Amino acid sequence: MDTFYITTPIYYANSLPHLGHLYTTIVADAVHRYKMQRGFDVFFLTGTDEHGINIQRAAEKAGRSPREQVDLISNELKRLFADFSLDPKNGGYDIFMRTTEPFHYQGVQYLWSEIAKNKTPKDNDTIYKGFYEGWFCAPCAAFKLNDEYFLPEGSEIPRCLIHERDLDRVSEESWFFRLSDYDEFLLQTIENNPEILKPESRRNEVISFIKGGLQDLSISREKTSVSWGIPVPGDDDHVMYVWLDALSNYITALGYGNEREGAPGFEKYWPNTTHLVGKDILRFHTVYWFSFLNAAGLPLPKTVYAHGMWLDADGRKMGKTLGNVIEVDVLHKHFQTDAVRYFCLREMVFGQDGKFSYEALIERANADLASGLGNLLSRTVSMIHKYREGKLPAGKISEENYIHARRAGLDPDGGEIVSVLEHARDEFIRRFDNFEFSQALEDLWAVIARIDKMISDAKPWELVKDEKQAETLNAVLYRSAETLRWPADQVHESGLYKSAN
Ligand code: ME8
Ligand code: MG
Repeated sequence: MDTFYITTPIYYANSLPHLGHLYTTIVADAVHRYKMQRGFDVFFLTGTDEHGINIQRAAEKAGRSPREQVDLISNELKRLFADFSLDPKNGGYDIFMRTTEPFHYQGVQYLWSEIAKNKTPKDNDTIYKGFYEGWFCAPCAAFKLNDEYFLPEGSEIPRCLIHERDLDRVSEESWFFRLSDYDEFLLQTIENNPEILKPESRRNEVISFIKGGLQDLSISREKTSVSWGIPVPGDDDHVMYVWLDALSNYITALGYGNEREGAPGFEKYWPNTTHLVGKDILRFHTVYWFSFLNAAGLPLPKTVYAHGMWLDADGRKMGKTLGNVIEVDVLHKHFQTDAVRYFCLREMVFGQDGKFSYEALIERANADLASGLGNLLSRTVSMIHKYREGKLPAGKISEENYIHARRAGLDPDGGEIVSVLEHARDEFIRRFDNFEFSQALEDLWAVIARIDKMISDAKPWELVKDEKQAETLNAVLYRSAETLRWPADQVHESGLYKSAN
């Protein structure tokens, strides 16, 4: 059986999750279920990123220990995921990864040693000790280059362009990763492999970042400034840079470099890996992650797919800093799980930014789910009850009745409707495989509209009065029921319209 491994980012355990976090996990869950239906052996990871200064500070501020903080947030996130049917009980994720797991410590330390053992593509040591002097953004967990911060008026402390919060001055001994030796490797990898970074529109941004020149990356902090992290092997005075720690979760979860019991298997799942991420963290998942993996002698993931951001009604990115987040508990309280899941897939063109508003969510739920799908279902079921005592009749029309069927606007042998459905199915599969979820659902809903039209044209309430139209009415009932069964059951190659024709 072919394997398929899908991951979401592991979310920071510093604050409560919002719609953005829910979103990536909903999409990953949809892909995971779809791939299972398509016959893949799937492994699906989500989880929390639990180390670093940002979490350490959040804990301090709340009067908790870092451990209490991360336990609290990861439990909240699990509860939230369960509310939206994303948990294992509801057929959702396979692992909720936490970077504070002992097996993860073991795996990351092993990865570090593997990297340190090797040479760069330009035959230098991969890791060396030096001194770091620069500005660090805690919420980004990233050192900031000159063009990534600004100096507010009347202040000496620059702010990150993304978070608009004061940066930390870092001036300390540090281990470095020789990222500057990986530029050619990265460019070749990304330019020769269209699958590895999607969508197409994001490639140039990463390519030009690399072409702008790569600086070596500080991959440790002195323990005296950041204590909440994984110790560097052989140097207890340092903890690892949180992005190296966090990115590695994707492989330690599979069992890489550790002895976790019941691990799903690195060799088994890693070759067909898809990382879903927001575009905010694409650089980490390509430039850094590809280089770390290559340095350790490991193959790269198959695809990193960067989706767009949910914006508020004014077009601003939804986030903690602006305080414009959609709270997931509110969503859960006032909307049905399926409506939220459907909306996430249908409203956002995957890869582009999308605006979130409650009005749009209500509108989608009403138009597509209640009026579209729901109405067709209730119409169909109630006609079967009313006209055929609750038993779905066979849908075949005998040749002598073709003429009557045509009079009711129905194609007698069902060939036309089958080809509409088969076309929709093929398009759905093509779109979904391409991560075009919104368009895939559009194709599916076109079928619902088509069947609605069949019913309105045929006018069952008239057909029932005419004995000669008994088979036509049967066919209308059968076709609408069968069409509803098909997407609800599985979008399969086989079985469609076979049972009664
Ligand atoms: O970056 N719209 O965690 P994080 C859509 N711990 N998606 C959004 C969003 C929005 N407005 N806001 C957040 C981290 N997201 C690191 C990741 S992975 C090894 C480490 C989603 O809590 C989106 O997937 O800041 C984004 O990439 C992620 O949450 C960032 O979550
Ligand atoms: Mg973030």
